[in-house]
Amino acid sequence: MTAGSRIVAMGHYQPSRVVTNDDLAMNLDTNDAWIRDRVGIAERRIADSESVADMATYAAEKALASSGLSAADIDLVTVATCTSIDRCPNVASRVASRLGITAPAAYDLNTACSGFSYALGTADHAIRAGASRNALVIGAEKLSDVVDWSNRTTAVLFGDAAGAAVVSAAPEGEEAGVGPVLWGSAPDKGGVLRIEGWRPYIEQEGQVVFRWATTELAPFAIEACRRAGVDPSELAAFVPHQANTRIIDGIVKRLGLSPDAIVAKDLVQSGNTSAASVPLALSKLIERREVPSGAPVLLFGFGGGLTYAGQVVRCP
Ligand code: UT7
Repeated sequence: MTAGSRIVAMGHYQPSRVVTNDDLAMNLDTNDAWIRDRVGIAERRIADSESVADMATYAAEKALASSGLSAADIDLVTVATCTSIDRCPNVASRVASRLGITAPAAYDLNTACSGFSYALGTADHAIRAGASRNALVIGAEKLSDVVDWSNRTTAVLFGDAAGAAVVSAAPEGEEAGVGPVLWGSAPDKGGVLRIEGWRPYIEQEGQVVFRWATTELAPFAIEACRRAGVDPSELAAFVPHQANTRIIDGIVKRLGLSPDAIVAKDLVQSGNTSAASVPLALSKLIERREVPSGAPVLLFGFGGGLTYAGQVVRCP
């Protein structure tokens, strides 16, 4: 058993094509004011030829480059995604092959929008158990493949992206930087968010998901802090799943954060990128040096399943 793990570096990738609310309003009965007011999104990035595996590879490549490690050091690759069209080889194997990682444990994980925190939890457990030393943990989604572009209730919400973390065993005698994962689900409510069938489109009962997220999730986020021995008032930043600014504000109201804490609202520029949303937002905070190294950050994902997961991490 090791003392635990820590995030040593992050990276992210977004396609170059920006689609604004006004762009969508050219073909849909919607408008910029409604989308900004009800959801908080101003624009999103939509992939052209990039696949889920392409975006995952680009994000992982950046994380690996800034970690100081090489492909030979990585012994586990996990990709959280619910939008990979190809079943086999899985996305993790494709990423490993393209980055020259020769023999890692390689698995995909699908818990929809909570996927990154689930994947980070499994990688942390593997490192604690001695089954891995250095892991690549990736969230990657191409939601544009599963969006019905004629349905205004979903088409305005989503975007494409990937975010990745290099997670390593904490050096002997040093504290872990990935706190215990708090994970769970409400499977009885699973039918309210679906990507089903051979030619799937995302469908959701938005108000039901909204109510669940704003009324039931804050206690789980607080419990993730308690398990890490961190009071929410001590958090330097909160990086929740990026679905709706009103959901984020609703959870924040109940957390008891310090007024100085940063609350990630990357969805304004990126839309909802499901399992990519948390690592994407965290990677950008780190890139902009908005959170000091070592400071505690609460990650918290939620969505299809319905599933949720979160943990406190120390900023690399
Ligand atoms: O990441 C996975 C987890 N998913 C979520 O967390 C999503 C949670 N849900 C939500 O964020 C919100 O429920 C939505 C953003 C999806 C919808 O917002 P809402 O405030 O719940 O809107 P609504 O569905 O109650 O619709 C209100 C009105 C309706 O019109 P009427 O019936 O009042 O005349 C809709 O037809 O807004 C209409 N509407 C739109 N109008 C302009 C729905 N979509 C649009 C649109 N543009 N794109």
